[in-house]
Amino acid sequence: MSLDFLVHRTEPALTRIIERPALEPADGQVVARVEKFAFTANNISYRVTGDSIGYWKFFPVPEEGWGRIPAFGFATVERSRSAALKEGTRFFGYFTTSSHLVMEPEHVSEANFIDHMPHRRDLHAVYNSYSFLGADPAYHPDFEDMQALLRPQYTTSFLIDHFVVSSLFFGARQVLVLSASSKTAIGFAYAQWLRGEGRPDLIGVTSPGNLDFVRRLGCYDRSVSYDALTELDPGVPTLIVDFAGDGQVVATLHRHFADNIRYNCAVGKSHWAAAPVDLPGRKPKFFFAPNHAMQLIGEIGANEFWRRLNAGWSRLRVDAARWIMVETGRGPGDLSELYARLLAGTVPPDRGHMIRL
Ligand SMILES: NC(=O)c1ccc[n+]([C@@H]2O[C@H](COP(=O)([O-])OP(=O)(O)OC[C@H]3O[C@@H](n4cnc5c(N)ncnc54)[C@H](OP(=O)(O)O)[C@@H]3O)[C@@H](O)[C@H]2O)c1
Repeated sequence: MSLDFLVHRTEPALTRIIERPALEPADGQVVARVEKFAFTANNISYRVTGDSIGYWKFFPVPEEGWGRIPAFGFATVERSRSAALKEGTRFFGYFTTSSHLVMEPEHVSEANFIDHMPHRRDLHAVYNSYSFLGADPAYHPDFEDMQALLRPQYTTSFLIDHFVVSSLFFGARQVLVLSASSKTAIGFAYAQWLRGEGRPDLIGVTSPGNLDFVRRLGCYDRSVSYDALTELDPGVPTLIVDFAGDGQVVATLHRHFADNIRYNCAVGKSHWAAAPVDLPGRKPKFFFAPNHAMQLIGEIGANEFWRRLNAGWSRLRVDAARWIMVETGRGPGDLSELYARLLAGTVPPDRGHMIRL
């Protein structure tokens, strides 16, 4: 038997659990057992941008109007009809809220393979690549959950860090990080903090209830809550790195800082329910991490890219135990409950949720 957790594509609160007969691999395919995956605000953003960015296309379902949210995690080959992938092989990558998945391994090397299922062939290569654990220098068995919860996000954090540094912070003297308590924002702040002195002030902006958590992290120079933004000095040239995507907050900042907003890097929409607002001043520019990753690999080569990324990651995964506690949910009931809490924004920032369906 195979189990799928579906969400309605236009009615966020509607979910369904579908039991299907055991999946059968065709020639050249495997059936992967999805062992566990991480589920955070990032997954809610996949749902919100399912149509505009195309995340629904990765794991389509026959039920019209419904979809499966992608999720990073670990899987094992349960049945194989591929000469290249043996039963029992474990790997990390982009899965979904299902117990099993049919995959078609192609370009199989010692390090990784590409899922070449027909519906995925035109989708972004970054998401179609899966890494074998033994050959992945960033993998360590003690940090599997941290890897699922933080490494994909840290890749984005690392890329934003590179982007703002190589753009000389667009001439800003301070960086406002919106939704500072989110894992991707913390990774960015961590990457900045690792650089030491000589960079603009890093100000974490968060909800009043998450302010203490953000202060305790120690990787932001200062922190403020969304309702105190207008107390900041409007004369300071400012760069916004926005993980919240809350139009009202950004409009307040644009009015307050006016031309002193030097750049607004729109990364996420953790405040997914916030209504869109017509913004005054310079328009935000969306930061799509997979495109930046391909660009940087083109510039410095894959080996140097992974060396730099893994240098920061191997420190963060250890340090993260200080501020994140992993909780593992089991079965579709726990996933439904977590999904509802993520939609409502009631998951505390010091929790990282893994699901085993
Ligand atoms: N563009 C890209 O390529 C890319 C790549 C990776 C991630 N992202 C985006 O980065 C964002 C953060 O992802 P993450 O996995 O790091 O998230 P996360 O750790 O789960 O974020 C948790 C934080 O988000 C805010 N939040 C969560 N749900 C909310 C809700 N329903 N209403 C209001 N606030 C809510 C709260 O922060 P505050 O109180 O501090 O606001 C909360 O502490 C997501 O939007 C994700 O899509 C984008």
